[in-house]
Amino acid sequence: MIVDDAVERIRQDSDLVPRVGVVLGSGLGGLADEVESRVEISYTEIPGWPVSTAIGHTGVLVLGTIAGVPVAVLRGRAHLYEGIGADRVAFGVRVLGRLGIGTLVVTNAAGGIDADLSPGQLVLISDHINLQGTSSLVGPNDESLGPRFPDMSDAYDAELRIRARLAAEELGIHVGEGVYAAWLGPQFESPAEIRFMRAAGGDLAGMSTVQEVIAARHMGIRCLGISVVTNMAAGVLPEKIDHEAVLEVGERAAGSLTALLRELVPTLSV
Ligand code: HPA
Repeated sequence: MIVDDAVERIRQDSDLVPRVGVVLGSGLGGLADEVESRVEISYTEIPGWPVSTAIGHTGVLVLGTIAGVPVAVLRGRAHLYEGIGADRVAFGVRVLGRLGIGTLVVTNAAGGIDADLSPGQLVLISDHINLQGTSSLVGPNDESLGPRFPDMSDAYDAELRIRARLAAEELGIHVGEGVYAAWLGPQFESPAEIRFMRAAGGDLAGMSTVQEVIAARHMGIRCLGISVVTNMAAGVLPEKIDHEAVLEVGERAAGSLTALLRELVPTLSV
């Protein structure tokens, strides 16, 4: 299987067995610089790994330790809107699963649907609504990865959210909690689409994360999702959404995300 080819390639550079995996979204790559004794492998060097074209994604796998805990960090991810299949969007997560992670932390930039959220805020994802019209599990099931019909009841682990909340409190970082509604993109949602998401129970809108979490849960990996609210979603405020402004807010909030992850990630190894 192609995932095994990728693992074999990574094993040429590192024999580290990561306990925790972290996916860093657009402009949120700061944690990668905190990894000690690190080995970096560009996605372009790993067979089967999709190379993202999105701005703010440099595309590198970082293996090493944080506070002594072995971790694997994906700096940059592929998105469905790039025209990449859902199974390939989840490829990196499957490789991390094969390398040995038991816990996955997935981060992203998202639009705030819930009017109580504000740009720059961190939000713990409690559940998701997959509106992307596909799944990373479509196609023949690989029984060595997981079952044909995996349960999604506890896709985002409640215990991990408690730990994240405690770590944030210690750092004085305010975190919200909400349901992530995943949109195909690449265009931002229309105001009517955001009203639809709100009516369905969505608090955040984004274009990533769910395919990775579905693949991780398939493999029995525990997941924690953290969104950075970079803007209020379409129609929530009487203003347009500007991608430059989204990136700028993301960059400003990235510091608190990195601080939280630095404290939290090493505690997630058990
Ligand atoms: N919608 C979807 N994805 C996003 C948004 C948004 O408003 N902001 C950042 N990513």
